[in-house]
Amino acid sequence: MADMNRRTVLTLGAALGLGGVFAPQAAQAAQAGRSPWTWSPTRSVLGSGSGTDPQWVWDDDIDRIMANVIDSGQVPAVNQAILPWVHNNQPLPTGLPPELSTWLQSSTQMPEWADMTKLRRAADFNRRKDLYLFVIYGIGGGIMSTVIPREAKSVYWSKGGADMQDRAAKTFSFGYDLSDIDAFEQSGEFVVTSNKTRMVHAAVRHLLPQSPHWQAVADEEIPISNQDILVTFHSTGTFAHRKLREWRVPMTRADEEAFLHSWQVALHFLGVRDEYIPATWDAAHAQAAEILTPQLTWTQEGQELAEVLLGLTAQVDLGVTRGFLNEFVRYQLGNEVGDWLGLRRDYVAAATIRAGWPTYIAFREGLLPVAPVSFYMFDQFVRALAMAFLNRGESGTTTPITIPDMNRP
Ligand code: HEM
Repeated sequence: MADMNRRTVLTLGAALGLGGVFAPQAAQAAQAGRSPWTWSPTRSVLGSGSGTDPQWVWDDDIDRIMANVIDSGQVPAVNQAILPWVHNNQPLPTGLPPELSTWLQSSTQMPEWADMTKLRRAADFNRRKDLYLFVIYGIGGGIMSTVIPREAKSVYWSKGGADMQDRAAKTFSFGYDLSDIDAFEQSGEFVVTSNKTRMVHAAVRHLLPQSPHWQAVADEEIPISNQDILVTFHSTGTFAHRKLREWRVPMTRADEEAFLHSWQVALHFLGVRDEYIPATWDAAHAQAAEILTPQLTWTQEGQELAEVLLGLTAQVDLGVTRGFLNEFVRYQLGNEVGDWLGLRRDYVAAATIRAGWPTYIAFREGLLPVAPVSFYMFDQFVRALAMAFLNRGESGTTTPITIPDMNRP
């Protein structure tokens, strides 16, 4: 963060559409270190709270339980037990340590403020807008995660950092299960997937502090705080909301609220306290301006992860060049991020995207009578991207999420 000056922060804020709400005061704080937490709990789903900075809040009960599982060598047994546990309506797996079973009994309950009507609408919205969401989550959000230093360092130095293809597939199964038509229904999978993820994060909180590599680069003692999880939400969900609006994708107010609601419930299941979960999109964007934008910067780990991620994507036949991919990242995240990551320029591709992407959307949404010339190129690109990320093409299954028992060597 030391090389992050006020101008950089403001330019980035503008690129990500956060300029209007980004306060100079936060930029100054960013220069000094981390932003002060000023976001009010009155703007949360709970409507009140202590106001404690969420960078000092983790997930105490499951953190202790998973530390015990790791230290007593029970990770293989737990992984075996949770493998067949997939659907929301399945009974909890047997063969787990009793304290983990007891914890799961309450952690798998829907929060009382969850609204199934909104969640069903969100599922329908996700289906209707899925191609844009793939592009936003897969390219914009995915690459943004590499310029969030704490996330980049944690991912790089954890076990999964050594095999990014597998890791990307697992992470994508979270997005897939959240966006699935029956995500929160009895037949869906999201409650299980998010609880497994919460267990993985708890395991990482115990393992990473033991990694000498991570210790050497980290600016914190325990990773994946509540604030870090909120930051990731803003680099995916909040960013998606911003881009959909910016790209003039038609959405009703009910669609927007439903989309937010599915993320609110997701954050709850990931262990974020209700007092930090934004109640409205305005509150979410304000929170993002406070905790996401000031953090974005280059790290060695992020640079390498971005190369791996873009390399993986470029391996798939998307019908476009790597230069096009680089420019699509720049189109979504701005040139500052593109320059940090050293993404080679392709000015022809840049011009094609600037002119073609808005018309592609307009035609798909029935707002243009005739398909633009570049329509099929964009269409092939987004569809191939969707297939690549889904990783379901041939196997028909997602990669199961498992608890790690070590760090990246
Ligand atoms: C693991 C999703 C936030 C670091 C995972 C996994 C999923 C996931 C699905 C399991 C896949 C796997 O095992 O590789 C999410 C979501 C987040 C979030 C949806 C917030 C909305 C974070 C944050 C950090 C982080 C903020 C770090 C600052 C990690 C690490 C792993 C992991 C290190 C384990 C990788 C491994 O060694 O296998 N996450 N995550 N996550 N996550 Fe997150």
